[in-house]
Amino acid sequence: MDNSRQTNRGTSLSRRTFIGRSASLAAGMAVVSAGPAIAQAAGSASEKLGVGIIGCGGRGMGHMGTWKWLGENGGNVEVVAVCDVYRPRLDRAAQAAANAKKYMDYRELLADPNVDMVSITTPDHHHGQQAIDAMRAGKDVYCEKPLTHWSQFEVAREIARTARETGRVFQLGTQGMSDPAWWQMKTLVQEGLIGQPLHAECGIFRVGDWGERGMPVDDPNAKPGPDLNWDAFLGDRPKRDFDVSRFFRWRMYEDYAGGPSTDLYPHSYTPVTTMLDLKAPAYAVGTGGIYRYSLSETQKENPDEKVEREVPDTFNMLVDYPGGITCALLGTQGNGFQGTGARGSGAKVPVLRGWEGSLTIQGNEIVFEPSDSTNKEAQRYPIQGEENMGEYFRKFVECVRAGNPDTQSPAERAYHTQTALIMGYLALREGKTVRFDPEKENLII
Ligand SMILES: NC(=O)c1ccc[n+]([C@@H]2O[C@H](COP(=O)([O-])OP(=O)(O)OC[C@H]3O[C@@H](n4cnc5c(N)ncnc54)[C@H](O)[C@@H]3O)[C@@H](O)[C@H]2O)c1
Repeated sequence: MDNSRQTNRGTSLSRRTFIGRSASLAAGMAVVSAGPAIAQAAGSASEKLGVGIIGCGGRGMGHMGTWKWLGENGGNVEVVAVCDVYRPRLDRAAQAAANAKKYMDYRELLADPNVDMVSITTPDHHHGQQAIDAMRAGKDVYCEKPLTHWSQFEVAREIARTARETGRVFQLGTQGMSDPAWWQMKTLVQEGLIGQPLHAECGIFRVGDWGERGMPVDDPNAKPGPDLNWDAFLGDRPKRDFDVSRFFRWRMYEDYAGGPSTDLYPHSYTPVTTMLDLKAPAYAVGTGGIYRYSLSETQKENPDEKVEREVPDTFNMLVDYPGGITCALLGTQGNGFQGTGARGSGAKVPVLRGWEGSLTIQGNEIVFEPSDSTNKEAQRYPIQGEENMGEYFRKFVECVRAGNPDTQSPAERAYHTQTALIMGYLALREGKTVRFDPEKENLII
C-alpha cells in the first residue's frame, strides 16, 4: 500500500501511477490482443494494493472471496477496510478479513490512506455517488452493476466525466466481459465481417423473483440506531420511516431498484454495446410490467404473502442509435427458456446482424452466417475460453497498476450502456418514447 499517496490525482501523481501511465502509453501502441490494452508497469506488482469494500451484503461477501483468492494467487492485494451501515454485516465482513478496519460511513473509508481501490457493492442508488466520491478521493473503483439507479441519468453522466477528469481506473461489475467470445466477435465486426452493423438482439430469461422477494431478511426485528443507519441507507432517496422490508429487500422497490432493466441487462447489453462500439442512443421505447409475480400469482403459493413488488418482472426495450442501428433487449423473470442458448452468467446469446451477415454463438463456437446479398462464406470460430470472475478482478488490478483506464468494462462504456437502459425504463414508466439530446447530453421525455 502506498501510504504517502495523495488523495487528489489532479495535483499529485504517485510514483506507481506515473510509471504505470508511461508504460501504458508505450505498450498501448503495440497491443494487438482481442481485449483492451493491458499494460504492465515494471516493478509495480511488488507493491501490495489495499482494497476497501463498501457494502458487505451478498455481493460484498462475494467480492471478499474473490479478493482473497486473488491475494493468494499472485494478485498482491488485501482487503484492508470494510464498510456497511448495518453492524452485523460489517462485523461478519471484518471477521472474514483479519486486517480490515471497520467503517459505518463510506466517506471515512475513502479517507483511509491504506485503501488504494474500492469495491462498491451497495444497493443500486448508492453506486454513482460513491464511485464519484471514491475517484475524487484518489481511489480506483470496481463498481457493481448497474452503474446507477434508473432515476440517476445525471449521476451516470457525472461518473464518466469524473473518470475522465481524474484519470482513475474504473471497472463495472459486468464480469461476463471477461469472456473472450465478446472480444473475438468485436474483432470480427471491426474487420468488417458482417459489414455495416444494423441490428442486435440480446436479453435474459430466467425464472424466479429470488433477486427481490427472495432476498434474505437477516433480522425481522432490526431497528434504526447505532447498529443500523437508516438515513445512510436511504441516501438521496425519498425520506420515509424505517421499513425492514425496504432495508433488506430493496430490489423490490422502485426507489432503489428497477427490475431486469438495471439488475440484469447490464450483463447482457454491455457485450453488445462493446462489440458494436455503441455510444449514446438516439431514442428508446419500453414494454413490460409485473406479469408473473403479481399478488394473485404469489398468493397461490402462499396465501399469507403480501406482495410489495414494484419493479417489473418482464421488461423489453428497443433502442435505436444514430446512423441506423437498432437493438432489442428482451426478457422475463417468469420463463427461463433462452431460445438460441445461454452464455456465461445466463444471458441469452446475442445475435448481431449487419448488411453482409450475422454473428452469434452456438455451443463453444462463434458462428457467421452471410446474408443473401454477399458472396462471403459461412464460418465458425472456436471461442478461446469463458467467463472467469477471478481473471476479471485480476485484469482490473493490472489496469490499476498500469494506470490504464481501459478496463474490460470502463466508465465511458458503462455510461453509454446505462443511458440506454435508463431510457428504456423511463419509456416504460412514462409510456413515451425517450430521446437523447446529443448537444445538451440530456434526456428528453
Ligand atoms: N455482478 C453480479 O453478478 C452481481 C450479483 C449480485 C449483486 N450485484 C450487485 O451488487 C449490489 C449489492 O447487491 P447485494 O445482493 O449484495 O445486496 P445486499 O442488500 O445483500 O447488500 C448491500 C449491502 O449494502 C449495505 N448498504 C446499504 N447502504 C449503504 C451505504 N450507504 N453505505 C454502506 N453500505 C450500505 C447494506 O446494509 C447491505 O449489507 C447491487 O447493486 C447488485 O446489483 C451484482
